[in-house]
Amino acid sequence: MSVPAVQIAAQVVRWQAEHGRNALPWQNTRDPYRVWLSEIMLQQTQVATVLDYYARFLERFPDVRALAAAPQDDVLALWSGLGYYSRARNLHRCAQIVVSAHGGAFPRTVAELAVLPGIGRSTAGAIAAFCFGVRAPILDANVRRVLTRVLGFGADLAQAANERALWDLAEALLPQGDLDRTMPRYTQGLMDLGAGICLPRNPHCMLCPLQQACVARRQGNAEDYPVRTRRLKRSAQAWWLLLRQDDAGRLWLARRPPAGIWAGLYCPPVYGSREELEEALAPEGARGAHDTQDLPTFTHVLTHRDLHLHPVLARGQAPAPSCAEPAAAGWFTPGQWQGMGLPAPVRKLLDAL
Ligand code: ADE
Ligand code: SF4
Repeated sequence: MSVPAVQIAAQVVRWQAEHGRNALPWQNTRDPYRVWLSEIMLQQTQVATVLDYYARFLERFPDVRALAAAPQDDVLALWSGLGYYSRARNLHRCAQIVVSAHGGAFPRTVAELAVLPGIGRSTAGAIAAFCFGVRAPILDANVRRVLTRVLGFGADLAQAANERALWDLAEALLPQGDLDRTMPRYTQGLMDLGAGICLPRNPHCMLCPLQQACVARRQGNAEDYPVRTRRLKRSAQAWWLLLRQDDAGRLWLARRPPAGIWAGLYCPPVYGSREELEEALAPEGARGAHDTQDLPTFTHVLTHRDLHLHPVLARGQAPAPSCAEPAAAGWFTPGQWQGMGLPAPVRKLLDAL
């Protein structure tokens, strides 16, 4: 870092005093109830929307005891329209814990705050810094953007180790002295930079107090930060498994194709629907001629997919279901299939027959 950490903190503090937001209703107070309430409301809601709700909430519940004593329905009614109602339920529970376990006074450390319902590490850091001048970092989405750009931190935040490393760097950048004054300003300053200057697109670097320190600005690629690979969306698929058992107790198993799920393993034939399964079992209108039994369905969790498995047991003498690869399919006795390569959930299923 060519610009020392102490200068970065000092620049944020100085800039906040002159150019930051200093008249929001949850500022100019050190009452943790008021700060906490604002931080919870601001977690997923814009400042402009929060303003009205915040005022109404404080009027109805002026302190943490009033909130704790209220029926949950009243809290939810006042929250109505803000969305993410788990926030309101956590808020209410948190108030009750502050009253019952802390005598009505919010704890002063990040560790104690962060175990309360609805308060994560970043919200705990904000409350501790704003109210008690604690030297604790915050890392909400806006601040993450500012810091990754300033530091040129290009590691993938989808990886927990990189996220932890960024928290450590955020901590190293914090002001070193006069914390009671500097921590609230610094914390608010980072929020203000994220909300008004270091925007996701076209950041106003010319107005930024960190332009000399900022690695991303020097590189000319601010918009490349932060880096977070998409976590693949999970998909779900239903598989119908035909467990065909002959009178000798043998099972019909077929080898899976060489690529894809359970590649190369032996498995009862798989169908995409019950209809396909029944069609394979009784092709020419011979429905009802065999004895089938639905076994309990279960879900097998793969890396990017949930497989909902529907095993159907069909007993009795019958021609083997058609199979594209005859050499790789056949009737197998328990003694045989127990020694073959089977997917773990299939083995469990067969063991239970
Ligand atoms: N978002 C989260 N905390 C905030 C605060 N203290 N001021 C403005 N926006 C915020
Ligand atoms: Fe963000 Fe630009 Fe400031 Fe860097 S210089 S922190 S990219 S606004």
